[in-house]
Amino acid sequence: MDIKHFLQFSDFDFDDYEYLIERTKLIKKKFKNYETYHPLSDRSLVMVFEKNSTRTRLSFEAGMYQLGGDAIYLNALNSQLGRGESVEDTAQVISRMCDIIVVRTFGQEIIEKFALNSRVPVINGLTNEHHPCQVFADIFTFLEHRGSIFEKKVAWVGDANNMLYSWLQAAQIFGFHVHVSTPCGYEINSKIISKNNNWFSIFLDPSDACDGVDLVTTDVWTSMGYEKENKERLKAFDGWIVDKQKMLRAKKNALFMHCLPAHRGEEVSADVIDGHQSVVWEEAENRLNVQKALMEYLVLGRIK
Ligand code: CP
Ligand code: NVA
Repeated sequence: MDIKHFLQFSDFDFDDYEYLIERTKLIKKKFKNYETYHPLSDRSLVMVFEKNSTRTRLSFEAGMYQLGGDAIYLNALNSQLGRGESVEDTAQVISRMCDIIVVRTFGQEIIEKFALNSRVPVINGLTNEHHPCQVFADIFTFLEHRGSIFEKKVAWVGDANNMLYSWLQAAQIFGFHVHVSTPCGYEINSKIISKNNNWFSIFLDPSDACDGVDLVTTDVWTSMGYEKENKERLKAFDGWIVDKQKMLRAKKNALFMHCLPAHRGEEVSADVIDGHQSVVWEEAENRLNVQKALMEYLVLGRIK
């Protein structure tokens, strides 16, 4: 039997997302109404994390419990992964003992290798190149606030990182346009996403990227794994803060999103992230809701 994995946003098509959005609405409603819903009772989730996490760990762990299953957390320090056991062997062993796995790691090639050796579905809980669960939660959040994202405009102010690549894959699937403004030296890698397309445009000036958009989004200037570059990045990203002036260039009813954790005064000013256009807490909360639908789908398939 073919196993479905979710290793990057483009692993699912529009039809899959439409289905998952409907399931998310339903599962969220049940949860808000304190209605017990245990489709994954007796099922186990294993989370293999090689980087820190608050939201991803918490939302998968809580989500699995709320669906009636169990969750087990492993990291590089407390497992044999940190002592050199191979990814292939680790995947073989873990996938014989559980029903679904979330991996947070460095290069995308690691999670691809993990999935190739897994007997159960693997979800990307963030790699250097992709963060599909977060962007799915963000699109669901947009939908809740503004309706369909089809033909809308999204500004990305920051480096070409995991979040941006997932946004760009999502733009192609959902039919929206991304205005990308990256600091010099931190541009899109065409090996990860082709620059020949009509779902994003590049802007040298981050303020111009915000012109007339429906959503402005950004991320930390230094992603996990790149800490050594922190000092250089602080200099290179000067001007790439999302502040009130940039939000004023966007549509009046534009939303502000940030996957969190945030650094107020660096990539976003406090008045924007804590202001009325910001939906950052809803984005974080929706990680729980979309991932419950995702786990249900990957373990049980479509519910008729
Ligand atoms: N947004 C996000 O993935 O947060 P964590 O790093 O806390 O999991
Ligand atoms: N781009 C950030 C996202 C954190 C959720 C990172 O990879 O650290």
